[in-house]
Amino acid sequence: MPEATAQAIVRLTAADLDTQLEAFAELLEACVVDGASIGFVLPFGREESRAFWRDAVRPAVAAGDRVLLAAYVEGRLAGTVQLVLGLPPNQPHRAEVTKLLVHPRMRRRGIARILMAALEREAAERGRRLITLDTRSDDAAEPLYASLGYAAAGRLPGWSVDPGDAAKFDSTTFMYKTL
Ligand SMILES: CC(C)(COP(=O)(O)OP(=O)(O)OC[C@H]1O[C@@H](n2cnc3c(N)ncnc32)[C@H](O)[C@@H]1OP(=O)(O)O)[C@@H](O)C(=O)NCCC(=O)NCCS
Repeated sequence: MPEATAQAIVRLTAADLDTQLEAFAELLEACVVDGASIGFVLPFGREESRAFWRDAVRPAVAAGDRVLLAAYVEGRLAGTVQLVLGLPPNQPHRAEVTKLLVHPRMRRRGIARILMAALEREAAERGRRLITLDTRSDDAAEPLYASLGYAAAGRLPGWSVDPGDAAKFDSTTFMYKTL
């Protein structure tokens, strides 16, 4: 596997996200247009993408309810992932992975793997021992998570609409790892 060169993983503040909003919007848009099933459907444009980061992610990062990590390759945003910490009071030991995105031009260089390693360090530092996530069944992410030690709890049929076909429903696979 070729390693990405000159890569860095950074935890971003809400102010950092403000200054990099366009790069994040471009990354999310590129992934959705490429076919990723990550909560959105086609057509999906730049303004909808900006609105996600600005209105859904930024407030949660500012409130400390989410950790936002970014991967850079040679100074350019190449990938990102979020750790959701804002969970009910009876789950202080759990955190969720969401929006693991690697730019379609930057895949299979180990970027998702290093983002997830950094995310798990962030979780462990906060005493979060149970990491959970869900991903469209049979997507590239499923073998990725499995290779990182995430176990499949099961598949839930008909969870989401296919991003490009409103008549098609996809299963999601729930996965977890104990740190
Ligand atoms: C899933 C995703 C994040 C993987 O990013 P990536 O940086 O290409 O992944 P990595 O290079 O770190 O891959 C690590 C391992 O995961 C597995 N993997 C990654 N992509 C894979 C694919 N397309 N098919 C099969 N296995 C894959 C492999 O085991 C790989 O190791 P290898 O390259 O040594 O074989 C990327 O494809 C993506 O952004 N997809 C769209 C968004 C998405 O679906 N995110 C997940 C939401 S839950």
